[in-house]
Amino acid sequence: MHVGMLTGGGDCPGLNAVLRAVTLALTGDGATVTGIERGFLGLLTRSVQPLTRERVAGILAQGGTILGTHNRCDPFAFFGAGGADCSAQAMSYLRELGIDALVAIGGDGTMVIAQRFAELGLPVVGVPKTIDNDLALTDRTFGFDSAVAVVSESLDRLQTTASSHGRVMIVETMGRYAGWIALQGGMAGGADVILLPELPYDLQAVAERCLERESREGWSLVCIAEGAHQRDAGLTLRETIADSPDPLRLGGVGHVLQQQLQPLLSCEVRTTLLGHVQRGGTPTAFDRVLATRFGEMAAQLVKAGQFGRMVALQGDDCTSVPLVDVAGRTRTVPLDHPLLRTARSLGISLGQR
Ligand code: F6P
Repeated sequence: MHVGMLTGGGDCPGLNAVLRAVTLALTGDGATVTGIERGFLGLLTRSVQPLTRERVAGILAQGGTILGTHNRCDPFAFFGAGGADCSAQAMSYLRELGIDALVAIGGDGTMVIAQRFAELGLPVVGVPKTIDNDLALTDRTFGFDSAVAVVSESLDRLQTTASSHGRVMIVETMGRYAGWIALQGGMAGGADVILLPELPYDLQAVAERCLERESREGWSLVCIAEGAHQRDAGLTLRETIADSPDPLRLGGVGHVLQQQLQPLLSCEVRTTLLGHVQRGGTPTAFDRVLATRFGEMAAQLVKAGQFGRMVALQGDDCTSVPLVDVAGRTRTVPLDHPLLRTARSLGISLGQR
């Protein structure tokens, strides 16, 4: 059997751990594995490399992806051909390579494209990756735990400088339209205010919490998700990339909040935008294990001929779900999530009155 594998969308810690696990599990049974470079783009630029046991040796803890990735390439609307459908070209290259099945590791955008290839008859298995943790039907995506660890450590560091200077420190996290990173990271880092896209904030409520702390502790930590916004206000956009499958790039809401809050408080307000720091570097032990389990499960699905499915974590079970049920859906923080109750019980403000 000859299996192709690619990593699509934004990178995250743990991608190499999946590449290693799939390669070891499949080549151990005599299969050949070929890596497609820079996500689906490699199918159009004809860029591939062999994935052997030697090639994946020592990459478990390495951040990024040895195959490279691309978050704008959709072969069904290829930016390099004025948005034309180049999927037939990609399919013909896969046939030429003699690829029997494709393992696509990525987030929502990658799953949507993988599902479209599945509809053309390509045997596909998806593996859920993203720091945002926002894919449907899986409790976890790998990369999330590593991003949360960065947020938590950043808040720890900002806390000592916040208390030394008597400041309000705002930390903006990634996460797109889901607040998972801000919620878990904010909780782990002891934030006093956590603002999520799922709960549009009331500025006065945020200011009141900071004023309370200004008079008692003298400093505050605010953790805000990039997709958070004030009630009745829109999202804060960093840029719009017209020919991307995901054209809206979020970012900057931390600075917007800083400008809104400053006139309402006596102490100084500062903002740290964590950005891509959350996506780089080595995966946590949890993500290495999760990515390895996901990769091994993807190999099992390929060997069993169970295609059109995405690997998923449900509870502690590594299982799989139909790709068609995942593609195009976003999993946001439910308003009855137990961590929201925990936050409220501890007096952490969620920006609500
Ligand atoms: O989906 C992962 C993610 O890091 C989001 O949290 C963020 O909004 C986006 O990708 C950033 O994308 P880019 O790397 O293209 O700026």
